[in-house]
Amino acid sequence: MNTLHVGIIMDGNGRWAEARGLNRVAGHSRGARRVSDIVSAAPGLGITHLTLYAFSTENWQRPLAEVNGLMRLFRNYILGRMESLRAHDVRVRFIGMRHRVPVHLRQLMEMLEERTRNCRGLNLTIALDYGGRDELSRAVRGLAERVAEGALAPEAIGEEALASALDTRDLPDPDFIIRTSGECRVSNFLLWQATYAEYEFLKIAWPDFTAETLAGSVKGYHRRQRRFGQIGGAAPAARAVAEN
Ligand code: IPE
Ligand code: IPE
Ligand code: MG
Repeated sequence: MNTLHVGIIMDGNGRWAEARGLNRVAGHSRGARRVSDIVSAAPGLGITHLTLYAFSTENWQRPLAEVNGLMRLFRNYILGRMESLRAHDVRVRFIGMRHRVPVHLRQLMEMLEERTRNCRGLNLTIALDYGGRDELSRAVRGLAERVAEGALAPEAIGEEALASALDTRDLPDPDFIIRTSGECRVSNFLLWQATYAEYEFLKIAWPDFTAETLAGSVKGYHRRQRRFGQIGGAAPAARAVAEN
């Protein structure tokens, strides 16, 4: 089966709120509402895997009131959507560290993963307390520990072994990454996995991102030619023969 993995850096909630005289958490709250629309629309657009960047390893450095507001929104999202996600056959996974997340939220994350474990529709991954550098460091540490135990030979460490030590071990690489808010940077999202991902940077803020926006972006993605370091068009071997 063909997979289509879309990643979204859901950025711009704070500025969206500030532009309307609201506090930043109100912007996150509007942003959280968008998540449900996008999750519902994704399968109809051929998306098999959707990975949403919800909270980075650096986002803990924001003011406590904002961090607490976000944790409360994550909790409300899980509580409010648990049954509906399962009913819609959505399998949910979380990537990132977990030990810094408040214990009540961590328990809900585990419950949601457990309850949707057998779902076979959309694969929804939520990156929470996630950073690509942290994920890579943890993966490398895990491999080093296995080498130290004598369970793994250093020569066996290659791209495949490293990829299988990442939080995303069960997921295909992202094909297409969208970032809202006008910033053109990756901010520590899927650093290893996005090696050949297509990117789109949109000016609109996340609370203004709709199912129609996603449909337009996916349409644009399908018009792109991915080359993976090759030359595109006819198969390289055939071309070589034709030119000789
Ligand atoms: C993205 O919106 C949500 C998180 C990072 C949690 P921001 O809060 O970063 O919004 P801006 O970029 O400040 O507008
Ligand atoms: C990236 O947005 C993280 C999430 C969307 C969760 P940030 O707002 O944290 O990124 P920077 O600070 O602008 O790079
Ligand atoms: Mg931001």
